[in-house]
Amino acid sequence: MKVLVTGGAGYIGSTVVRALLDQGHSAVVLDSLVTGQRKFAEGVAGVKFYHGDIADRGIVKKIFLDNPEISTVIHCAALIIVPESADHPAKYYRENVAKSVELFDVLSELGGKNLVFSSSASIYGNVEGFKVTETSPLNPSSPYARTKFMMEMVLQDFCAAYDLRGLALRYFNPIGADPQLRTGGYVKNPSHVLAKLVNAALGIEGEFKVTGVDWPTRDGSGIRDYIHIWDLARAHVKAAEAIEAGGLFDRRDGDVTSLRYQVINVGTGNGVTVRELVDGFKQVWSGEVPVSEAPARPGDVAGAFADISKAQRLLGWSPELTTAEAIKAELDWREARKGILGY
Ligand SMILES: NC(=O)c1ccc[n+]([C@@H]2O[C@H](COP(=O)([O-])OP(=O)(O)OC[C@H]3O[C@@H](n4cnc5c(N)ncnc54)[C@H](O)[C@@H]3O)[C@@H](O)[C@H]2O)c1
Repeated sequence: MKVLVTGGAGYIGSTVVRALLDQGHSAVVLDSLVTGQRKFAEGVAGVKFYHGDIADRGIVKKIFLDNPEISTVIHCAALIIVPESADHPAKYYRENVAKSVELFDVLSELGGKNLVFSSSASIYGNVEGFKVTETSPLNPSSPYARTKFMMEMVLQDFCAAYDLRGLALRYFNPIGADPQLRTGGYVKNPSHVLAKLVNAALGIEGEFKVTGVDWPTRDGSGIRDYIHIWDLARAHVKAAEAIEAGGLFDRRDGDVTSLRYQVINVGTGNGVTVRELVDGFKQVWSGEVPVSEAPARPGDVAGAFADISKAQRLLGWSPELTTAEAIKAELDWREARKGILGY
């Protein structure tokens, strides 16, 4: 199978590409490198790299002319920084919504394509007990999250009207790096919790702040579902294989969607609080890590974790790696990254 991965030079897309290659598939990457890393995609054996924008209809059509055997597209390309989306909503609606509509339109025109869309658990509303299923209420609370919510709606409508099959994967909180240390996080000032914790431990940033300690969780800190990036990447391979084998869509599976559109949560199924993550980190990291506590910031939420029974049932996938393994991979990657990216 040959799969087109948009955003395949980014953190998640590049790791999905490695998982596809490891399973004997090949990949085509379309990435503008607006944030992604050229080294994650160009010159990688088994990968054909196209440097361009998802909204450039010409390059998308050329990719399919050059690679007519591609029937599945994994669409990871997007801008992803929540506070930036609040300051610059026009940019986020243009980059994540308008450009994705262009891409989906070309794919509909080409016909017969399957589209796996990188959605996000950030679109869920607050749920008592914090465990969410695919049918839990949605309440995206930032422009970024709303771009993801909107594109789910667009995909569902396109699948109902055109010759396109869609799968929205709602990612929870990816952490860690490729276990073979070929790809991983590359942002120097990351906003993700584990990357900030590592930066605090390495003395790159000041102390790590547990923001929000009065949530109605078991220890007051926010709760998340931290999934090892490699498990997340493996879920994409399973999804692409399931779509191409047929069968994923010719059933009505619980939620009210068209027969050609599905939504699936991808997490571990376990909630971990920020304080528990810090404790887990201290067990893996032998040095000191400065930690302090602060009130929740505007827009912060208590959090959620995934019910993953639908992923297990439809994709035949389950997470295999632990939070401790993800923490170790993140730390090991910081060393390996110096050799690959120079920092
Ligand atoms: N990282 C997370 O915690 C998380 C959680 C839930 C969902 N997601 C979603 O997963 C996807 C990948 O996220 P990531 O963490 O790998 O981010 P990332 O920024 O590392 O990767 C995004 C990639 O898309 C590329 N890109 C952006 N706009 C483009 C465009 N118009 N044309 C072509 N390429 C473009 C960037 O250069 C980059 O390589 C995103 O859609 C994101 O919304 C991420």
